[in-house]
This record gives sequence, structure tokens and C-alpha cells, in this order.
Amino acid sequence: MTTIESIEERGYTNSYLADQHADQLARLRTLERVFDPLSQAAFDWLDLPRKPAILDLGAGAGSLAGWLSKQYPGATVTATDIDTRFLLDIPGIQVVTHNARTDDFPAASFDVVHARALLCHLSEREHILARAVRWVRPGGWLVIEDVSLQPSLNTANPLFRKVAQAGITLLEQSIGSDMLWAETLPGRLSAQGLSNVGHRTFEGRIGDNSPADTFWAATTAQAGPALLKLGLVTQDDLDAMINLRADPAFSDAALTFVSAWGQVL
Ligand SMILES: C[S@@+](CC[C@H](N)C(=O)[O-])C[C@H]1O[C@@H](n2cnc3c(N)ncnc32)[C@H](O)[C@@H]1O
Repeated sequence: MTTIESIEERGYTNSYLADQHADQLARLRTLERVFDPLSQAAFDWLDLPRKPAILDLGAGAGSLAGWLSKQYPGATVTATDIDTRFLLDIPGIQVVTHNARTDDFPAASFDVVHARALLCHLSEREHILARAVRWVRPGGWLVIEDVSLQPSLNTANPLFRKVAQAGITLLEQSIGSDMLWAETLPGRLSAQGLSNVGHRTFEGRIGDNSPADTFWAATTAQAGPALLKLGLVTQDDLDAMINLRADPAFSDAALTFVSAWGQVL
């Protein structure tokens, strides 16, 4: 079987999801529109000092980091990414080029370490989780949020299931992503020794013109050429999927978004 490893090096930076893609900023904005309200609600659960030090790991296009700097006046908000091109013009944040796989922070540097839609894509996710716990000060919080595509595999619609399975396979092969691990997050935070673990799960649908639907469509469109190159779907499948999404009779659960948090005591 042809795997993407034989075509190019595996990993986020070489993948169809990386920042050099022409439509990447627009795609990240669709992601932010779905998930920012949910992430903001997760921060409401945290008991924070007046001027917290907050790390947003793999901050992407930075809308959440920008919101955090406004939400917590006097806070130090550090936004990191391997590619910081979309973070440079956001007022009130410190931007650091940082690879979560290999780069460290001193122990007990932050009151909150947050990562959204990052660890599911990094094969060393469990190791990074353990390192991120060490970056949190006593009394501080680790907040991990990720997307699971499990609902799309449960669909009764064969075309949607085929396209969804193809997307999951592509993410696994080209990046090393695990698009099902999000639902295990609360247990993983407890296993890291965190206290006061809490979580919320949101279901995103397609075919209903919701922000989740727009994000799903933007990501599938960006994946299209790679899906075709690997023979995971045909052009007819992709065209039929566009028509299915536009069919007023069709709507289905596509993803869950899990926000999980725990405290270092
Ligand atoms: C799906 S985007 C999510 C962005 C942002 N967290 C959000 O939710 O809006 C994943 C981000 O992780 C970054 N990334 C990928 N691998 C990384 C790594 N090893 N270290 C730090 N950031 C990484 C990508 O550049 C991208 O900006």
C-alpha cells in the first residue's frame, strides 16, 4: 500500500494542515469560530490569581491568546507555535517559537498551560502531557482541549463514513494524529496526578450550516488533494460529499470537542 511516508516526511509541518498552505489562515479562523466560545467557557471553571502567567501551546492564529490577554488584564500571555507567522500582530501577547515535542520551559513557570487541537496531532502526546504538567505552578491548571472524530465513524451514511474514515487515515499516516484520543482526556489528566479534574464535551454536526460544519468543510477541502493522491477517496466521492452536505434532508454528528482541566496541587 502507498503510504504518505514514502512521499514526504511525516509530521505536521509537511502535512496538508500546515501553515504554508494558502487557505490555512482562513481554515484556522473557522476552527476558532467553533471552539473559542467553548475554550472561553472552560477558563470560567478555573480559579486564577489576579495577574496569571498563561501559556497557550501551539497557539495557531492566536484568537484565544488575544482573548486571554484582554480577559485577564495584567496577565502574561505566552503564545507558542512551531510556526508563528499568524501570531505576530496580536497585541498584549508574548510570542515564542517553540516545538512542543522537543523544547522545554522551566518547571513551575505558569498558572495555566493550555493546548487546543495540538496534542491529538503529536505522536508523543502522552510524554508532552507529562512535561506540560511540570510547567504548571502549584495551584495552577493544565487545560487540554482536543477534537475526536468518533461520531463521524458512527454515521449510518456510507459516503460520509467513507470520507470520514479517509480523513482519519490521512491524519494518522501523514501526521501521526490520533483523532479518537480526545474522549480519554479526563482519565489521562487524572492519571497525571492532577486534582479537581473537570471536563465538558460539545458535539459538532455537519450539514447544518453551523460553525462546526464550516470548519469540517474547510478541513476536508484542504485535505482533498492528499486524499486523492493516496487513493483514499475518488473525486466523485468528494463531489458527492459536497452535495450531501448541501442536502437540506442531511445533517449528522461529525465530531466531539472535549475540554478537560485539572489542577496541580
Ligand atoms: C489545529 S492547529 C490549532 C491552533 C490553535 N491551538 C487553535 O486551536 O486555534 C495546530 C497548531 O499546532 C501547531 N503545531 C504543530 N506541531 C507543533 C509542535 N510540535 N509544537 C508546537 N506547535 C505545533 C501548528 O503550527 C498549528 O498552529
